[in-house]
Amino acid sequence: MSLLKDKVAIVSGGGSGIGQAVAESFAKEGAKVIITDIDEKGGGATVDLIQKSGGEALFVKADSSKAADNKMIVEAAVKKFGRLDIGFNNAGIGGPPALTGAYDIDAWDKVIAINLSGVFYACRYQLEQMVKNSGGVIVNMASIHGTVAAPMNCAYTASKHGVVGLTKNIAAEYGQQNIRCNAVGPGYIRTPLLEKNLDEDMMKMIAAKSTMNRLGRSEEIADLVVYLSSDKSSFVTGSYFIADGGYTSI
Ligand SMILES: NC(=O)c1ccc[n+]([C@@H]2O[C@H](COP(=O)([O-])OP(=O)(O)OC[C@H]3O[C@@H](n4cnc5c(N)ncnc54)[C@H](O)[C@@H]3O)[C@@H](O)[C@H]2O)c1
Repeated sequence: MSLLKDKVAIVSGGGSGIGQAVAESFAKEGAKVIITDIDEKGGGATVDLIQKSGGEALFVKADSSKAADNKMIVEAAVKKFGRLDIGFNNAGIGGPPALTGAYDIDAWDKVIAINLSGVFYACRYQLEQMVKNSGGVIVNMASIHGTVAAPMNCAYTASKHGVVGLTKNIAAEYGQQNIRCNAVGPGYIRTPLLEKNLDEDMMKMIAAKSTMNRLGRSEEIADLVVYLSSDKSSFVTGSYFIADGGYTSI
């Protein structure tokens, strides 16, 4: 189990859900992990889980929607571990439901600031460091709503489509500098994000829309992110990987 031996990885939104599962999987594969989140308690809990299993991790409190925080995260990674190899830009929110014609302007701005601008800021500073390192890998968190609509949530759909486009641009610009960049598009995964926004009946209804008739688990997304972050995917860049139990296949 050493697909990421001695790699230095940043995981944003690592205090909960998919980010926490990815941080744990990175550590199990031998990476040193910088976990960032606005939630100090969640981020600290992830660090504890990793350290208890013998891994190496550091928590940096940061708001991914702020450019300066993203610069500071990369600086903290380099200060502590000397380099940066992997960025998993995952922090994101759902946003309130409403028709596009009635969507709250502040809610739009907030979703775009975290889900799209936050991913850009992260990539912006990670790329700068990775060029100095002569290589690296970025995995950006999109969603199935990076390719299909989420009715009643135009901001979420727009932000995740934006992440897919940003990812392709980075792959096009940095392919010859040994930097790969891909996006993942999970279907509905049972995490605190889903549990906060949907009741059990709605989750059952959504599960029934995937051909596998169930919600996904964070660990199932973590396996994909580990693959994309490792040399096992050495010829994979500029791509967008859906893992949705068949949700978008019908
Ligand atoms: N759960 C799903 O069904 C699903 C499906 C597709 C994509 N996603 C995406 O996966 C990502 C993680 O979602 P999750 O389900 O694990 O959610 P979650 O709510 O369980 O975890 C998200 C984490 O991000 C943190 N966060 C929120 N805003 C932040 C900010 N401004 N700066 C730093 N950290 C911040 C939260 O504190 C939390 O710890 C999101 O981008 C989400 O859009 C989730």
